[in-house]
Amino acid sequence: MQLIKLNAIDSTNNYLKELFIDAALEDFCVVTTNHQTKGKGQVGTKWISEKGKNLTFSVLKKEPPIKLSRQFLLSILVSLSIVKTFEYYNIPKLAIKWPNDILSDHHKISGILIENLIKSAKIDFSVIGIGINVNQELFKGLPKVSSMKSILGVSVDKDELLHRFINTLQIYFRLYTENGEDILNNEYESYLFRKDKPSTFKLPDETLFTGIIRGVTDAGKLRVQMENATKEFDLKDLKLLY
Ligand code: BTN
Repeated sequence: MQLIKLNAIDSTNNYLKELFIDAALEDFCVVTTNHQTKGKGQVGTKWISEKGKNLTFSVLKKEPPIKLSRQFLLSILVSLSIVKTFEYYNIPKLAIKWPNDILSDHHKISGILIENLIKSAKIDFSVIGIGINVNQELFKGLPKVSSMKSILGVSVDKDELLHRFINTLQIYFRLYTENGEDILNNEYESYLFRKDKPSTFKLPDETLFTGIIRGVTDAGKLRVQMENATKEFDLKDLKLLY
């Protein structure tokens, strides 16, 4: 595995994207840093991680075998690979909060930010950015965030964790190429947080409503059954309260 270890960088996603313009990099090349100073999260948020304690890294996937209209499959493959890696460490009560927050017992322990470069109506390459809370124990002002160490009570070797994850990710890509997407869609939905349970959601205008998560569309939208109809939502269009 081609591994680039940086002491500090603004964002491993940005670094890997820029590096790939000039350098010949292997498929599944990884950039990791001890200190990410401007980590990016989903929908314009920040990813904050204590220096030296966690994993903040990006993986290059060249020409992923995925149609543009099914980009969400990348989120599925990556989310499942993280869940399976956590299962190896016996992390309890794992769930995927749509689209791709990984929770243990309602607490977020990992987040994913995938950035795709599109060329001639194809995904030319994907930069798969992942933050895993590994050995950090204090998350000030973030009651719904936790880490592997807080859950397990022991420190986790970050290098070993990274290698286990990359292996699992490669297995999942192979599984998809060999068997197609149905098994993956089903497995993703089997981990989907609050699926088939009445939940409260908040709309951008602060209105609250009750609905039941029924699944995810091919385009990656959340399907929520409401009183009279089932509607589809984008990430920026609703927030699940839990
Ligand atoms: C989220 O849950 O909002 C997504 C968080 C993704 C964070 C990772 S850390 C490594 C990579 N580089 C970034 O700037 N972001 C991702």
